[in-house]
Amino acid sequence: MTGPGVDASNAEQHAQWGGDLGLLWAARAEQFEASAAGYDAPLLEAADLAPGLHVLDVGCGTGSVTRKAAGAVAPGGTATGVDISAPMLQVARDRSAGFPGVAFLEADAQVHDFGRRYDRVVSRAGVMFFGDPPAAFANLARALRPGGRVVFVVWRSLAENAWMHDLTTALTGQPPPPPPPGPGAFALADPDRARALLEGAGLAEVDVRPCDAPVVLGRDVEEAFGLVARMMAGALAGLEPAARERAVAALRAVLGRASGPGGVTLGSAAWLLTGRAP
Ligand SMILES: C[S@@+](CC[C@H](N)C(=O)[O-])C[C@H]1O[C@@H](n2cnc3c(N)ncnc32)[C@H](O)[C@@H]1O
Repeated sequence: MTGPGVDASNAEQHAQWGGDLGLLWAARAEQFEASAAGYDAPLLEAADLAPGLHVLDVGCGTGSVTRKAAGAVAPGGTATGVDISAPMLQVARDRSAGFPGVAFLEADAQVHDFGRRYDRVVSRAGVMFFGDPPAAFANLARALRPGGRVVFVVWRSLAENAWMHDLTTALTGQPPPPPPPGPGAFALADPDRARALLEGAGLAEVDVRPCDAPVVLGRDVEEAFGLVARMMAGALAGLEPAARERAVAALRAVLGRASGPGGVTLGSAAWLLTGRAP
């Protein structure tokens, strides 16, 4: 997918997720999928999946939630992952070979016409990147059959998410300021805004509730540092050698302190957003 099909408000995100960022996620799919796996059980439980249901997974990335959803709606159900990133979808398809009921769609979820065919629209950290959130959530609500439900996991504030806050502090030597408004990981951190977007999309019984799980960055410090160094490669490359050395040591120290029997884990905080189509 190039220009056509992607709303102009999502061109920048499309360039990132279809470019270097998406290639990084594709190359490290297993690690990224595992990093937020602690949210899968609360997400799928809230979705109350049952055999025969049809699920849409928005911003599915490399498809781990899509595959788990497909398992929960078998036999007879389907799980379709939609994403704007061609490289991530390629990995999603490769990793899903042989999974019954799984399909993937390359599209901008903000504007794609899904048809009113899904019983559930779910997402793990894939609905914070829209250039026009009111239009996007209205479009996702239109993908639901009457009585169908949305269940989204979205990050709370940067300050509450140690996995990003502590690593950024280590990189720069000072706590990061709140991110600017606009598309990005923390775009739905304000619960009132998240609620207003779902209600504005015409959904009923909207609920916004905290949901926390550790983020697992790797099985050990070396694996975790490999991921973090790639994620922060641009910022690290922009530092003077002495500052880079200090930042690398500080990042390794954070990861070392976070290392334990469950791997390298840092705290994270999310909202579980739910709503129902009338
Ligand atoms: C943080 S990743 C989460 C991926 C996956 N849900 C997971 O938890 O591993 C965000 C995903 O949203 C996708 N995305 C961003 N904007 C999108 C859009 N307008 N339509 C569809 N997908 C989008 C990105 O390509 C990326 O795969």
